Amino acid sequence: MPNYFALIPAAGYGARMGNQLPKQYLTLAGQPMIYHAIRTFCESSQIKRVFIVLSPQDPGWKKYDWRAFSGKLSMLYCGGETRAESVLNGLNAAAGRFAIESSDWILVHDAARPLLTQSQLGQLIDELADDAVGGLLAVPVADTLKRSGPDARVLQTEPRENLWQAQTPQMFRYAMLLEALNNVPELSITDDASAIEAMGYHPKLVHNTSDNFKITYPQDLALAERIMQQRNQS
Ligand code: CTP
Ligand code: MG
Repeated sequence: MPNYFALIPAAGYGARMGNQLPKQYLTLAGQPMIYHAIRTFCESSQIKRVFIVLSPQDPGWKKYDWRAFSGKLSMLYCGGETRAESVLNGLNAAAGRFAIESSDWILVHDAARPLLTQSQLGQLIDELADDAVGGLLAVPVADTLKRSGPDARVLQTEPRENLWQAQTPQMFRYAMLLEALNNVPELSITDDASAIEAMGYHPKLVHNTSDNFKITYPQDLALAERIMQQRNQS
């Protein structure tokens, strides 16, 4: 049976958040944002180990006490210039630390998606466990889509049929993901599935809800805070 490993790229600076501190360390429900995703993976009995990809110049990780998760966590200080580079470096470094088989599953998850629930994680794993390619959580696009020119005036309306917003985790076999990321010419792709698609495969979209959104702008953090408060009350 293949093992399941989580890999959380957390080497970004959160430029769009406009804060000095990288967004993965901004406080959410009393903890650094990255804590919440780490907890979800560490508490899942299906996940064998959780790798965190940090920048070699990481300014935040050591300020917190991670001992509660120490049995499952490995920190890899090998983040790159882009998310894809961080994931690729992380895959290589993880294999140096831990015995990972080519057919083991890697679940790549943004540190900036703190609202992933245990049941969403379980559903992704269940739906993909027997899949030949793997896939990702995603949400069908709800809004009408406009394409503009550089002047923020509408050029045309794009049909939204069969369009999805990609989320994470994105789950692929170790060897396939490694090969895919090694093959993309520019590591500027913004998710892992793009690399798999470039090899001609068709990752499966696992229907999720929009609450697993990525914290990108300051208002996203405020909304996540409210959602967490609600979850803690119910
Ligand atoms: N990430 C990474 N290495 C990079 C860039 C991003 O590990 N060189 C990680 C981020 O830390 C985040 C995830 O990839 O957990 C998703 O990226 P994004 O939301 O774009 O985060 P940032 O790149 O930090 O934010 P921004 O694009 O606004 O600068
Ligand atoms: Mg980014």
